[in-house]
Amino acid sequence: MTAKRVLLIVSGGIAAFKALELVRLLRRANYGVTCVLTKNGSQFVTPLSLQALSESKVYTDLFSLTDESEMGHIQLSRAADLLVVVPATANILAKMAAGLADDLASTVLLATDKPVLVAPAMNVRMWLHPATQANMAVLAQRGVHVVAPTEGAMACNEFGPGRLAEPPEILAAIEVLLRPAGPLTGRHALVTSGPTHEPIDPVRYIANRSSGRQGAAIAAALAELGARVTLVRGPVSVPDPDGVTVHRVETAQQMLEACQSALPADIAVFAAAVADWRVEQAATGKIKKQPGAAPPALTLLPNPDILATIAAAGPNRPRIVVGFAAETDDLLANAQAKLVRKNADFIVANDVSPETGIMGGAENAVHIVSAADVETWPRLGKDEVARRLVRRIAEAFAD
Ligand code: C5P
Repeated sequence: MTAKRVLLIVSGGIAAFKALELVRLLRRANYGVTCVLTKNGSQFVTPLSLQALSESKVYTDLFSLTDESEMGHIQLSRAADLLVVVPATANILAKMAAGLADDLASTVLLATDKPVLVAPAMNVRMWLHPATQANMAVLAQRGVHVVAPTEGAMACNEFGPGRLAEPPEILAAIEVLLRPAGPLTGRHALVTSGPTHEPIDPVRYIANRSSGRQGAAIAAALAELGARVTLVRGPVSVPDPDGVTVHRVETAQQMLEACQSALPADIAVFAAAVADWRVEQAATGKIKKQPGAAPPALTLLPNPDILATIAAAGPNRPRIVVGFAAETDDLLANAQAKLVRKNADFIVANDVSPETGIMGGAENAVHIVSAADVETWPRLGKDEVARRLVRRIAEAFAD
């Protein structure tokens, strides 16, 4: 497969230096990169540094005879799979919204029929100005994709939204847009993973040994088949998968709320090891050991069952719901009971007895339990289990 090509337009803002890092990340991910640098952009980064990192000629001038003879503005956009504006200043966003074409960057943006992604960066008041917000609304309505600016201290000594998103986040958005179409393109998948932490006091909590690996692998596999993926993760140390929207939560209650706000979804996979109980009233200060006193008694309350709540029949029920059954005894009977009790379409049953090394390990040995049958898969890496499971989900979706 030939490498996908990004046409990167660098406009003039203090954040333009981050475009250099983005070019480096794009090249490392094997994308071809051609840069267009605006006149103002060249006040912040040089064509030479962009050229060295992109290993490609940098275009700056609409009327340069050499540029036009080598590659005109129409050809520049034709040769690209995606146009990306980083940083996108208030000025270039206004020009895009108004359809102005007074330099090479704005002309290419007006002439293109390729998808366009912008990563705005500007002073907070410029970003919040009704003119900029109206321009953003126009661009969104025309289908321009946006990596929203973040909030933080700015070069102008102000604080608020307007900081350019970090290059890895922009890369992730680019990867999603350039992903080849797959059987789950256009579908939204929700995945939970990891443990939950239920506080006892500000320093202690109830937890379990889940690593979040299997859920992360499932999220990545869903994204590979083209789905837009929301991953709701408990506290885990495994890295976030690329190209997936991640919500980090701590407790079961927060996980449920994050899942509900991610709906509607076409597919939901509940791989999290949610704590079954929480402490009725977590102490606000650290519970002290009192010499000679009895240990504190904890009153536990049941946590909401996230899977059962979301899988309950109703207009928002995802079409395919997958749960897990991690058991040490009566694996299949328990999984079959869970399938019915939780109204799931599939239960992935795995034996988590300590001698299997599955909980927290790199491999998994699962049975796929549905109303129709039970499939038993060999012991496989968690990535391979994820890929097979997601292919199974895509088949069920196609039925
Ligand atoms: O009932 P049990 O915990 O064995 O069910 C396991 C399945 O239910 C897993 O898919 C798990 O993610 C999900 N679950 C949940 N919310 C809970 C408990 C379990 O989503 N409170």
